[in-house]
This record gives sequence, C-alpha cells and structure tokens, in this order.
Amino acid sequence: MENYDNQDRKDFQLNAYTELDSDPYYNQIKAELNVLKMQAQSLQLQNQTLNVEKEKLEKVLNNYKNSPAIVGTISEIFLDKLKAVIRTNNGMVFYVNVPEDIIKTINVEDRVVMAQNNLAILDVLAPEKDYRAIAFEINEKPKQSLKDIGGLKKVINEVEETVILPMTKPEIFKKFNIESPKGILLYGPPGTGKTMIAKAIANKTKSTFISLSGSELIHKFIGEGAKVVKDLFKLAKEKSPTIIFIDELDSVASYRLDSGTGADREVNRTMTQLLVEMDGFYESDKIKIIAATNRLDILDKAILRPGRFDRIIEVSLPDKQERKEIFKIYLEKIPCGKLNLETIIDMTETASGADIKLICKESAIFAIRKNKTKVTQEEIVESINKILIKDKVDEKQKEVNNYFR
Ligand SMILES: Nc1ncnc2c1ncn2[C@@H]1O[C@H](COP(=O)(O)OP(=O)(O)OP(=O)(O)O)[C@@H](O)[C@H]1O
Ligand SMILES: [Mg+2]
Repeated sequence: MENYDNQDRKDFQLNAYTELDSDPYYNQIKAELNVLKMQAQSLQLQNQTLNVEKEKLEKVLNNYKNSPAIVGTISEIFLDKLKAVIRTNNGMVFYVNVPEDIIKTINVEDRVVMAQNNLAILDVLAPEKDYRAIAFEINEKPKQSLKDIGGLKKVINEVEETVILPMTKPEIFKKFNIESPKGILLYGPPGTGKTMIAKAIANKTKSTFISLSGSELIHKFIGEGAKVVKDLFKLAKEKSPTIIFIDELDSVASYRLDSGTGADREVNRTMTQLLVEMDGFYESDKIKIIAATNRLDILDKAILRPGRFDRIIEVSLPDKQERKEIFKIYLEKIPCGKLNLETIIDMTETASGADIKLICKESAIFAIRKNKTKVTQEEIVESINKILIKDKVDEKQKEVNNYFR
C-alpha cells in the first residue's frame, strides 16, 4: 500500500513539472529570476571595487588633512631636559621637546621629521649620504708646476693675476678694495693643457686640488647632483686653501631649449646648486673655482655672470713657437740624436700639447723597438704620421658617421 502511494506521488510530481515546463508564464519568471541573480552578482563585484576605491580616496583625503612636516637636523641634544636644538634647511633653529623613548635613539646630525603645528618629532630619517669621500679626486699636493707648461704665456699671466696673486697676497687686493674673481673658466680644444694649468695653480698656491667631472656628476650620481655639489664646497672649506676644478662644465651648465625631461630637470637642479654655492662663499682668497670646457658655445649665460666665472680664458692649440717649447720639454726627457726641430714643428700644425707629448713618447718606443740608443728624426716623423694621421682618420670617420646618423 505504502509503495503504491509513493509511486503515485512521484508520478504526480513528474506530471506537474512537465506541465510547469511547458507553462510560458513559469518560464518567463524563471528567466527573470536568472537575470536578477546575475545582476546581484555584478552588483556585489561593483560593491567590492567601489570599497577599494573608497579606501584609496580616504587615504588621499587624510593626506590632505595632514599638513606637510618639517625636516630638520639635530644640532644639540639635552638628555636630562628631554630637549633638543634642531636646525631646519631654511636656517630656522628650534628648541623642542623630545619624548624620552625617542631622545635615546637620536644623535647629533640625525635628520628628523617634525609636525608643523607643535614641532613634535614624528620620525627619524636615515642620515644624508656624504659624497665627500667618493665623488671627487683629491690631490693634497699636485706635482705639476707652471714650469712644466710649454707656451700658454698669456694664459699663465692672466691666471697669475686673477687666481694666484689674490690667493698668495690677498692683502694687496684688500688694500685696493678689489674683489678678486671667485672662479675662472678655461675653454679650448681637448689636450691643450686646461687640467694641467689648474693643477699647476694648486701647486703654486700650495692648495688642495679637488676635481670633479661635470659629466660624472650627471651620469654617475643620478638624482644626487645637487647634494654632491654641496658636499664639494663643504670639503673645499675643510681642506682650504683649495682649488676646485670642475671639468666638462658644459655637462652641468649647458643652455638647453627643451627642459621638459627628467634628465634636464636634474641638470638644472645641479646647476642651480652650483650657482647657489658660488654666490654663497666669500672666502675667495682661500677657495677658487677653475672650470674647463670644450664647448663655450653651449654654456648657460647664468654661469658666466660677474661674481661667478667672470674671467673666461681661451686655451687654444699651440702656435709655432709654443709647439717648439712643448717639444723641448718632452724631448729633454728622452735621449735624442740630432733633430731638425723646425721640420718637426712645421709638420705638427694641428697638434695639441697632449699630441706632442704622445709623439715624443711614441718615438721613444719606436727607437726601443729598433734597438736604437737614441731617438732620431726618423722615429719622430714616424710617430707624427701615426698620431696625427690617425687623428685625421678618426675625424673623417666621425664626419661619415654624422652624415649617416
Ligand atoms: N702646453 C703644454 N705644455 C706641456 N704639456 C702639455 C701642454 N698641453 C698639454 N700638455 C700635456 O697633455 C696632457 C693633457 O693635457 P690636459 O689634460 O691638461 O688637457 P685638457 O685641455 O684638460 O684636455 P681636455 O679638454 O681633453 O680635458 C697633459 O698631461 C700634459 O702632459
Ligand atoms: Mg682636461
């Protein structure tokens, strides 16, 4: 009986479903239900993304509510009073309360972040990187002397007047109330002795020679150029008297038409810092800046204003007489037979001082190879051909490359 009843119910249900499935009204509601289910799912998803967005915006809003904090450097700590003296970058000095747990962790010269309203210390920053040890070539006693320079008499005279005399006899300039230039700029083709002159000035004035290359400043210390310049002047003061030599000045102080890119902004920041430092130092009888460039034409005019590099001195390729002097300096150092210096000088019209030095060195090597005891005219002519003609070939190659660029 019971079995019969169950079977009966099942049959009835089956019939009912079959009937429902064929009922169009039922099917319509079923389809609508499905749509609503899908809509609910998508709204749930939307809800999730909007919540994430809301959290993000809340954070931004909080940032707006918090006013920017002040960064300062600790100059003194009073442990017993729970106070510290903090100096900010714009020169303000504050005497502030420091909570006990923080005062134990801070040191003089640490950088801290302070709230603007009550100057409470909010955070201790990592100390600023000090570039003094890594960015510069420091030479306490350069050996190169003015006597080692061939020719360039006019340049040397001008350098004597503008750099050497004000450093060695500052009292004369003070008496006449003349402000000596803070820096000079040497410009001219490669290998004409610009770096050499700067070193010889340091030697003559018994100064520390600190050199920095403009292109390194931009390419090696990316984003830190301004800080490196600041450290350079700090070091120069510590080591004074000092000759600061900035090679390839055009890399940091070139005039650019489009200053939209990040790299250009970085160059601008570095140059601004250089100008700030140059304008800010007044011990110009103890520190002098000598800069060098091959490209005077692209320099920013701001760097050439009076009170900065107000002496701009050309260091050109040596003329006939100068080439003779330079040859004599280098040939004196090697054993030579009879030479016809006039012919050598006529053959080297396009040579720089650096080329002449190399020609002399190469001819000694040629002589050694030939088992000779002395350098003769033959080896000199051979090396002139090798060095100057190689230069010419390089130049031609450059022209060709430029053409196809
Ligand atoms: N007038 C000169 N008298 C003696 N030696 C010279 C002279 N000019 C150049 N030299 C020699 O050539 C070498 C290279 O010169 P230096 O580095 O001073 O040239 P530079 O003008 O600074 O070149 P660059 O623009 O490529 O930096 C020096 O080490 C020096 O030995
Ligand atoms: Mg140089």
